[in-house]
Amino acid sequence: MLASTLRQRRHNLKQKIDFPAILWSGGARSRNFPNTYPFRASSHFLYFAGLPLENAAIRLDDGKLELYWDEPPEESTLWHGEQSDRDEIAAQIGADAAYPLPELSDRPRDAATIAVQDATTYQQQINTLNRSLSSPHESEGRDLTLIKAIICLRLTHDRHALSELQKAANVSVEAHQAGMRKAKIAKTEAEVRGAMESAIIANNMTCSYNSIVTVRGEVLHNERYDNPVEAGDLILADVGAETPLGWAADITRTFPATGKFSPTQRDIYDVVLAAQKRCIDRVKPGVEYRDIHLLAALTIAEGLVDLGILRGTPSELVDRDAHALFFPHGIGHLLGLDVHDMEDLGDLAGYEAGRQRSDRFGLGYLRLDRTLRSQMLVTIEPGFYQVPALLQRAQKQDKYKKIVNWERLAKFADTRGIRIEDDVLVTESGCEILTEKLPKVAEHIEELVMGNG
Ligand code: GLY
Ligand code: MN
Ligand code: MN
Repeated sequence: MLASTLRQRRHNLKQKIDFPAILWSGGARSRNFPNTYPFRASSHFLYFAGLPLENAAIRLDDGKLELYWDEPPEESTLWHGEQSDRDEIAAQIGADAAYPLPELSDRPRDAATIAVQDATTYQQQINTLNRSLSSPHESEGRDLTLIKAIICLRLTHDRHALSELQKAANVSVEAHQAGMRKAKIAKTEAEVRGAMESAIIANNMTCSYNSIVTVRGEVLHNERYDNPVEAGDLILADVGAETPLGWAADITRTFPATGKFSPTQRDIYDVVLAAQKRCIDRVKPGVEYRDIHLLAALTIAEGLVDLGILRGTPSELVDRDAHALFFPHGIGHLLGLDVHDMEDLGDLAGYEAGRQRSDRFGLGYLRLDRTLRSQMLVTIEPGFYQVPALLQRAQKQDKYKKIVNWERLAKFADTRGIRIEDDVLVTESGCEILTEKLPKVAEHIEELVMGNG
């Protein structure tokens, strides 16, 4: 199955470029000699080579794949055990030929490539191709043509990819269930994180990004886990698994530490959930992802007007970016081999040709501005946050100080950050939620935390 999928992928590439491409996997970064950080192969390499081989390169030309990889020296079996040899790996991935890595330098130097992140491999790329190499989002000429071709392929997922993505989603669901079950007895955020990542590790997967497990959900990328978990806290958990072949999931849930939302937390939670569901209902081919973002913004503005936190007409509030005081990020992003898929390419993947990031406060953080197509996988992740710096600034700005009812907002002080995130596959007729099995309705979440779910 893997070999035939990879054959199809390089056949698809052949339809788009008529010159060779070389993709490098990269190497592990040193941690403290002789230990390294866990190795993660470049996603562009993984897409065509299938397996996370370290210090390998593939040459793709006219639908054929040549593998360049040095077998580990014999003495390495002492430390790392027996490993597959080059021919076995070549057979697994359906390579047309396989050679030691140094032989790559004997090939013509006319290939396109994408720069990798680790410095040693980057130098190898330059030496092999005998030319300078820009960072991927500044590429030109053949490299840019290659990048655009790869984006076109990776934007939608084939059957093999979808089966991997579903596995990552399933394990991530399990991790979130474990976290919710742990919340009631956990004394710190770290204990909840431990329960969640334990489920991922026990399934022989890794985390697809640094977990966010925090009672300070308003710190959007909080990567500390030392806060105590106390009665009345909401825990925001943004945790996802990655399969051994590199495919990612990305889920967020927010749940009450002691199993019961306070009335104010519940009010806001239901606003975020309404936005999330409404957005997912809108996902289908032909729809602009940007419009889905704006629908979330509108739903949040409506909800906050109903709760007396914002004053005015919801659509006008969105036009003035008032929603972004509480929902400052975009509605989501592409998901695939990278959790923010292909964002190493800047906005080349996320933004349709000719489109650029808006300088509007309420739109500038939108990571994806494309027309949705069948087999694209996106996240839908609206949120509500009380970011002190943002709100303190707004309180002094003529533009915002009157449209927020600050006294009313103060009553919601126990609701620092809420986000609800699912992985949503665009299908021919609508969409399918890969992470659907994980509850998100408030009562169901409460039951899970209480241990009844
Ligand atoms: N986990 C990062 C994100 O949701 O975008
Ligand atoms: Mn996400
Ligand atoms: Mn996430």
